Amino acid sequence: MISRLSSKHLLGIKGLSKEDIELILSTADNFKDVLNRPVKKIPSLRDVTIANLFFENSTRTRLSFELAERRLSADVVNFAASSSSVSKGETLIDTVKNILAMKVDIVVMRHPNPGAAVFLAKHIDSKIINAGDGAHEHPTQALLDAYSIREKFGEVKNKRVVIVGDILHSRVALSNIFCLQKLGAEVMVCGPTTLIPKYISSLNVKVEHNLRKALEWCDIANMLRIQLERQDTKNFPSIREYTMMYGLNMEMLRSLKNKITIMHPGPINRGVEITSEVADSDQSIILNQVENGVAIRMAVLYLLAADTY
Ligand code: CP
Repeated sequence: MISRLSSKHLLGIKGLSKEDIELILSTADNFKDVLNRPVKKIPSLRDVTIANLFFENSTRTRLSFELAERRLSADVVNFAASSSSVSKGETLIDTVKNILAMKVDIVVMRHPNPGAAVFLAKHIDSKIINAGDGAHEHPTQALLDAYSIREKFGEVKNKRVVIVGDILHSRVALSNIFCLQKLGAEVMVCGPTTLIPKYISSLNVKVEHNLRKALEWCDIANMLRIQLERQDTKNFPSIREYTMMYGLNMEMLRSLKNKITIMHPGPINRGVEITSEVADSDQSIILNQVENGVAIRMAVLYLLAADTY
């Protein structure tokens, strides 16, 4: 087992090795133990300053990173584009250089443009964590998803995972495909042809357009929401029709041969991709995913901060 990550930044899962991923998951095990103690705060990142830069909305990722940073005793500054000088025309580089002039060690950034985190890493010295860049990657989501599968099944290897829904606009799908394959899982994507990108054939994943067939095949179904905010063309006739074809309800879930596990990265559109009954059922590990997000983000922050490159 390696003891340090191979990269200064966490820009995506594509750039991580299987050993990097396993190191993050096993480090998260230690932090999960810490989070279950009465005293949850440890001094590991004392004197480390972290800026959370969110140029796009977030609930889970932003809160989870902030909680992880505070549990590790880091100093934290938060930035939301909507309430900043970005609205006055300031560029990304100028915004970040100004924040770094305040002596920031690690930048956690969510941005609507694919490649924004890579761009930033080329222009500033701080360590960068990609908290989601457009429809490109969302590495900590994929890590917490893999961790949740490992927690439920003991290992990720040989598990069959179907990712259902809007694959075209999903950074979660791409990071999950990279992460699950590196850990030895089989991956399928399922959705209407218009929401499955053409490049998918180069990623060695199965493609299925029939939801029932996909669910009969899998151990785990990761149900994605339709990203209405990223649809610049009409990729399906209506939400109602999408739900009829690709929405998961209890009737479908109960009719399957296997008792599959249901995941969702959030935010959930209840009644669209899954019903409330499915989301809240004993087959769902959606809230376990959220809980594990804090331990995973503590692990990533700890490992990046520990190393001087
Ligand atoms: N899963 C996820 O990225 O959720 P948020 O957009 O709320 O951060």
